[in-house]
Amino acid sequence: MFDPLADAYAAARPSYPEHVFGDIERVLGRPLAGTDVIDVGAGTGIATRLLLARGARVVAVEPGPSMLARLLDRSPGVPAVRGDGEALPLRAGIADLVCYAQAWHWVDVPVAAAQAARVLRPGGAIAVWWNDVDAAEFRWWQRQQERLERMSPGYRREYRTRPFADELRWTGHFSEVVTLTGRWQRRIGMDDYLTWLRSKSYVAAIGDRLEDFLDAERRTMLRAFPDGVVVEPFRTLLVIARTPEG
Ligand SMILES: C[S@@+](CC[C@H](N)C(=O)[O-])C[C@H]1O[C@@H](n2cnc3c(N)ncnc32)[C@H](O)[C@@H]1O
Repeated sequence: MFDPLADAYAAARPSYPEHVFGDIERVLGRPLAGTDVIDVGAGTGIATRLLLARGARVVAVEPGPSMLARLLDRSPGVPAVRGDGEALPLRAGIADLVCYAQAWHWVDVPVAAAQAARVLRPGGAIAVWWNDVDAAEFRWWQRQQERLERMSPGYRREYRTRPFADELRWTGHFSEVVTLTGRWQRRIGMDDYLTWLRSKSYVAAIGDRLEDFLDAERRTMLRAFPDGVVVEPFRTLLVIARTPEG
């Protein structure tokens, strides 16, 4: 579902704020430098590169061949394999950390949690996180959500309000589950903003009326941001679950 979006994805997806990695280090009780990390649903490698920059040894796992190709274009030489979080093509007990950046909502939780627990060493952790646009008080956001609910089959703005921490707890694989949130914002030019919208699976699902949707978005956003630079607020939700010490 993401593979045809690989170009838009590589061009305009937001990155992740530094505090995500600082929070992971605090819960893990060690710096990321020198840790063995599996980045699952790695996409074009946005999180993979941030983890590498912190000195982690990262293996990227991604089911989509075009996404994987973009990752390897941008980060040649990074160990990367085609694979699914529900059947990780990796040996047991090889990782300190399994990450899902903006990808955990695509997997069946009990199956993927068992796979993560299998590849983790005792005392390791799974970290799953999302950037969610945090703009409910703004008219431009309300207009966009109304338009999506009208035009994207099955789209509902509450689609990601699941009890992610409880779901991980209920699997029985983890001894400690922590939820952390943070807020940040970015400034992004109008064309890049529209490319970012195109990279979302539920926007692509609009199908034949996609250009109408994007034209309407451009008009709404130019009323809110007449200089053509969108200030986009985000809330980052991070859930970290640790396996018991050996
Ligand atoms: C929103 S993208 C996030 C990509 C990247 N982690 C990032 O932060 O930009 C979601 C990714 O999850 C991948 N994905 C979807 N289903 C998956 C599954 N069952 N196992 C692993 N990855 C999956 C998609 O191919 C896509 O690359």
